[in-house]
Amino acid sequence: MASHTNFRLHAFVWLALATTAFSLSPKFYDKVCPQALPAIKKIVQAAVHRERRMGASLLRLHFHDCFVNGCDGSLLLDSTSTMDSEKNARGNFNSVRGFEVVDQIKAEVDRVCGRPVVSCADILAVAARDSVVALGGPSWKVRLGRRDSTTASRTLADTVLPSASMDLPALINNFKNQGLNQRDLVALSGGHTIGLSQCSIFRNRIYNATNIDPAFAKERRETCPRVGGNTNLASLDPTPARFDTAYFKNLVKKRGLLTSDQALFNGGSTDKLVETYSLNPDAFWDDFAKSMIKMGNIKPLTGKQGQIRVNCRKVN
Ligand code: HEM
Repeated sequence: MASHTNFRLHAFVWLALATTAFSLSPKFYDKVCPQALPAIKKIVQAAVHRERRMGASLLRLHFHDCFVNGCDGSLLLDSTSTMDSEKNARGNFNSVRGFEVVDQIKAEVDRVCGRPVVSCADILAVAARDSVVALGGPSWKVRLGRRDSTTASRTLADTVLPSASMDLPALINNFKNQGLNQRDLVALSGGHTIGLSQCSIFRNRIYNATNIDPAFAKERRETCPRVGGNTNLASLDPTPARFDTAYFKNLVKKRGLLTSDQALFNGGSTDKLVETYSLNPDAFWDDFAKSMIKMGNIKPLTGKQGQIRVNCRKVN
């Protein structure tokens, strides 16, 4: 009996130690570099002030980092002779942006900290939060202590990043593979309350879809012709520089820009939640913040795993 209790106690202590050592914490840089988070916030604010869209672009970088083998900064690595960058994957090429701002943040954070202690993966997580706040959205405590990968995988990125043509079952399955549920899917898709998309991506929907408001389709066709204009931009919701509920209000009106957006309100299991978020900004904000934390916890490298890159584009 005594040895049983002893064993349980040991197991408990070991588990407690293991989880403290290897889980993320909002206080991770409090002692080692308390200047880090304010420095990131300042640069994000300045970048968003210069160009509102940058807030959207930085949020998307964190998402595309986390979905490919966890939040490990792998997206930021440039190609080498032996490694094809995730930047070349279908969902990223000529689409993801904001790398110069990440470089600027990394240089400044390493300067204020006196040495490279903040990972590129953590920079993406904090910049995503600060971007959402800068565009008027909710705030949350970012869990920190991620380390950076020494590898990247374009082929994995091609497989796991969701595509704009996905229907609801495909989206649900895609998020499930990351440990995210339907609520996370709908809340996080609310990230499309900010930012823009290119004509080549939504062309098929505005010319061929039946679950689209005809007036909206007509309006979008004006700047997205059947042929040409591939890179012409349209906003993902009517207020692309404001983190509000317009994205969900729009879905209810069949004015989603991407097929994957409208799939969330198309007579399926997520309709109810879309409606709730469209009417209740607090519900959206709360769930978005919770799901961002959950997404940020996907398979981080911690402890002695990986490294803290000096240059986010290159392995040390
Ligand atoms: C649910 C599956 C998702 C799909 C299929 C999807 C797909 C896309 C596509 C195709 C674009 C436009 C790219 C372009 O035209 O170059 C885009 C933009 C964007 N996505 Fe998503 N996305 C999804 C989920 C998310 C999530 C979870 C977030 C963040 C929490 C997010 C944040 C953004 C943002 C902010 C933009 C605008 C970026 C900018 O203007 O630079 N997306 N997404």
